[in-house]
Amino acid sequence: MCDPVTEYTARLQQQESEIKSLSSEIETLKNPQDLFSEGLDELREENARLKYRLNILKKSLQEETTYNSKSMININQRLQDIFGGAIGVACSDLENPPLAVTPSQQAKFGDYQCNSAMAISQMLKSKAQKVNPREIAERIVQNIPDNELIERTEIAGPGFINIHLKKTFVSKLLTNLLLNGVQPPTLDKKKKVVVDFSSPNIAKEMHVGHLRSTIIGDSMCRLFEFLGHDVLRLNHVGDWGTQFGMLIAHLQDMFPNYLSVSPPIGDLQAFYKESKKRFDEDEEFKKRAYQCVVRLQSKDPDFIKAWNLICDVSRQEFQKVYDCLDIHLLERGESFYQDLMTEVVKEFEERGLMQLDEGRKVVFPPGQSIPLTVVKSDGGYTYDTSDLAALRQRIFDEKSDFIIYVTDSGQAVHFQVVFAAAQMIGWYDPKVIRVEHAGFGVVLGEDKKKFKTRSGDTVRLMDLLNEGLKRSMDKLIEKGRDKVLTPEELTQAQRAVAFGCIKYADLSHNRINDYVFSFDKMLDDRGNTAAYLLYAFTRIRSIARLANLDEAALRKAAETCEIALDHEKEWKLGKCLLRFPEVLQKIQDDLLLHTLCDYLYELATTFTEFYDNCYCVEKDRKTGEVVKVNMWRMLLCEATAAIMAKGFDILGLTPVQRM
Ligand code: ARG
Repeated sequence: MCDPVTEYTARLQQQESEIKSLSSEIETLKNPQDLFSEGLDELREENARLKYRLNILKKSLQEETTYNSKSMININQRLQDIFGGAIGVACSDLENPPLAVTPSQQAKFGDYQCNSAMAISQMLKSKAQKVNPREIAERIVQNIPDNELIERTEIAGPGFINIHLKKTFVSKLLTNLLLNGVQPPTLDKKKKVVVDFSSPNIAKEMHVGHLRSTIIGDSMCRLFEFLGHDVLRLNHVGDWGTQFGMLIAHLQDMFPNYLSVSPPIGDLQAFYKESKKRFDEDEEFKKRAYQCVVRLQSKDPDFIKAWNLICDVSRQEFQKVYDCLDIHLLERGESFYQDLMTEVVKEFEERGLMQLDEGRKVVFPPGQSIPLTVVKSDGGYTYDTSDLAALRQRIFDEKSDFIIYVTDSGQAVHFQVVFAAAQMIGWYDPKVIRVEHAGFGVVLGEDKKKFKTRSGDTVRLMDLLNEGLKRSMDKLIEKGRDKVLTPEELTQAQRAVAFGCIKYADLSHNRINDYVFSFDKMLDDRGNTAAYLLYAFTRIRSIARLANLDEAALRKAAETCEIALDHEKEWKLGKCLLRFPEVLQKIQDDLLLHTLCDYLYELATTFTEFYDNCYCVEKDRKTGEVVKVNMWRMLLCEATAAIMAKGFDILGLTPVQRM
């Protein structure tokens, strides 16, 4: 079976080639008119007719796919496709002409803008061709194919193309959004994505750096999961290394019967410090510690048991933090890669890529400032070795398409050299597999110095989370919410605000920068904070309650009531809502989650503008009775709540119905 578009395209092509051959015959015949002009004119006409039909068919096909697809449409992408095509035709002699489509900042510049003409003019200039950008813009506009979403375009200023979207198109997509729920844009290819995040070190305190990694990594996973990829969330804990020698030796002394009775190590930090002290001061102990490492590495069951016991104490501590923040990940620590490390060393050695350097074995990828130490002079492996092994495992066993490491930027060089070594040995081609370090800045205290407690100690994460809980309850009580909410609702709100604020404060800043941790700022319900957004969300949800509309009634309305967008603020809100997929797709490329926060904040303020200007529910001033419900506006409220809820979900925030 042949669909009409293909059929028309084929006929069109045939006609075109006939015209071509006729034209060339005409050339050779010198006196063409007499013989062929009639036939040629006819064909030309027929050709134009066919082209016209083809365009109509293409457009209706697009409309059909757009409107019947459950996925949200990335409008920016659609416009880029359209303008990319138009530019391709308008500037057919340019290779890779620049393409720029962005949402317009002001209504007078249309809904979107294409600003390619200026850049193209520059490009031509460098090739010694002088063309006015306005002229280029005109050529682009003339070549825009028929499509389902552009109402009209206009050329402004030096050569900006202002794009106006069709109201019916936006309205239809909003209805789809309500009927299908917030669905991800269609996926080109489902990818295997590994996110290595959180990754604290066993027997050591999980610090604020790990908190950042946990929050950012979890949100990245949530994004990729929503987009439909296959995500592996890995906790690459530091659970292997020489420090376990001294820990085990100390365990044997403190809890000699540890094999039969589980040792009550209450405070692993203190335990670590004690064993470190002995290690540094007591030669005899030190020797034993080294022996313990050897026994552990040879997988002596008693030593594996001791190691597991120590890891378990740490795990329980970490788990408390994960439970608070609702984080789920798979622990696959450095120890998992032990045997693989030996293989990796062998592979580099055999390929002649290893060098000896004062007893150490190093790998020096070209162009890098430092080498990787793959084997220490005592024969042991390092952080470098385990990361090489982990990368290899993720490429070949997990068959990853995309591997992300979320750690502080201090480790940037480490990862850069690891990735370079992996490319050097040919494990992956960066054009095929994306391997990236998503680094982040340090957490600062309000004094702009490294985050510490008043007494100068490192802050324990559980203490920090508990303080968040306390502060958020204070805030709720200050607002008198304890008098309105049930105790259950109050605790829900407390947790949502406390943990939501901590996450949001982190995510709303560009991760590259350092960020100042301030409970006062994050709990402020004005400005770009979780507190503000969570409140905004409950307010939107309460509008439906005000109008006595339940879910079923709203659903019914979505099916029948067209969403009018005549008021300027309705139009602004409608367009803002539909930008959600383009925001997500951008983050997929740059891994900068703060753009989602910025977007949600913009959505909340755009909603407020709409709500202040457009009556949704009209009430009798005296009786307070509902006299009129403007249903299409209720639907806009619903759509806003739906997008916000999905945004919260990706950021790991838990919205509440009442707070
Ligand atoms: N455990 C390390 C630390 O605390 C982070 C590990 C990050 N992941 C990795 N594959 N190196 O700094």
